Amino acid sequence: MLRGMLVTLGLALAICGLAVGNVSEPARPVSGRGGGGSLGTHRPGELAEQIGGRALAARLARVQPDWPARRAVFRPRPIDCAELKCVALTFDDGPYRYTGRLLDMLARHEARATFFVVGRMVDAGGADDLRRMVAEGHELGNHSWDHAMLTDMRREGVEAELQRTQRLVRRVTGTDMRIMRPPYGATDRTVSRVARGYGLSQILWDVDTVDWRDRQPALVARRVGAAGPGTIVLLHDIHSTTVRAVPRVLARLDHEGYTFVTVSELLGEGVPGPGGRYPMRNEEELRRAARRS
Ligand code: NI
Repeated sequence: MLRGMLVTLGLALAICGLAVGNVSEPARPVSGRGGGGSLGTHRPGELAEQIGGRALAARLARVQPDWPARRAVFRPRPIDCAELKCVALTFDDGPYRYTGRLLDMLARHEARATFFVVGRMVDAGGADDLRRMVAEGHELGNHSWDHAMLTDMRREGVEAELQRTQRLVRRVTGTDMRIMRPPYGATDRTVSRVARGYGLSQILWDVDTVDWRDRQPALVARRVGAAGPGTIVLLHDIHSTTVRAVPRVLARLDHEGYTFVTVSELLGEGVPGPGGRYPMRNEEELRRAARRS
């Protein structure tokens, strides 16, 4: 039923002229986080199965009255993080097979998060997850097409990486992303300039859980627990160990009175303009971040 519904939605998008450009360009070589290949197929989260496609579409329509007739952008809730204890959990490199389960966990806590998605992962069967993220109030960010080290590329390459993902996400969700995170946190003047051209702010992080290296839920949860009010936490939903850490993370921070917000909600007026970077870092720090990743 979900599939039938999505076909209908896809048709509606095409009719409304939202299928901008051709997203099936030839695949670029994967750089950075090596390999890939075995992306597998996505299993929708249990909640998505319970909800069903029709209800999901109805929810999408509610949160985005313009969709699919017109492009929408993420609308932050009016939350004052100067008053509330806010934390922004961010999940990179997906969507992947654990993302549905993660969305179920977030839904149970009414927690909002930000997903910096890799275009190739969306293309490999992640579109349902993305539509669900939008429907449930999460924010989407551009994390390039194939997790490339953007600072190793010429301007045209950086443009292709960002544009391709931007177009695919627009096609499958009807929304325009306004934030991006360069893979490995690696950015420079060219990346900043291209990001500005696409209206994208560059969002790095305050707390690095190093969850890609340390595949231990308890350790990952403990590191998130070190997050203070007003921080952006870096996590990856492509690791089952990270997703398994999330219930502990949510319970603990909930207990400490945190509100789980998206990046735009956290930064509010403080979102750097297109091409701008949060947090501001000097080149040496950025190089260190890139080495760590
Ligand atoms: Ni990444």
